Amino acid sequence: MTFIAMNRFRVALGREAEFEEVWRNRQSDLPDMPGFVVFHLLRGASDEEATTFVSHTIWESEQAFEAWTKSEAFRRAHSGAPKTQGLYLGPPRFEGFVAVSETKKV
Ligand code: HEM
Repeated sequence: MTFIAMNRFRVALGREAEFEEVWRNRQSDLPDMPGFVVFHLLRGASDEEATTFVSHTIWESEQAFEAWTKSEAFRRAHSGAPKTQGLYLGPPRFEGFVAVSETKKV
């Protein structure tokens, strides 16, 4: 079953462009990972202190996602995370979802 992994960041007001640049300029191994489907960095609403961003990844299965989190590619992707320290308020919040119903364009 499809698995969706999301990590929610609260990015300090005024630091959004810097945060987006880190993600645009990163080297990504995701396209080569077994079971990877698609990745988006999503920008959401702002409130008085932060703008919400979500890293959103679709996998063919929860097992494929778990395998990526244990891979060298995951470690490499996060070795640069200190670059973004100070851009967001607190650690990101992770949420994972198993799709229990799916409708696709034919
Ligand atoms: C289970 C937890 C996590 C998941 C599922 C996750 C997911 C992802 C994904 C899918 C990418 C893109 C990787 C690529 O393109 O190869 C990524 C990169 C990144 N993640 Fe995470 N992440 C997690 C934990 C964290 C944590 C705890 C932080 C911050 C403290 C973080 C900050 C970042 C940053 C800043 C990048 C961009 C890396 C760069 O090029 O500098 N992630 N993450």
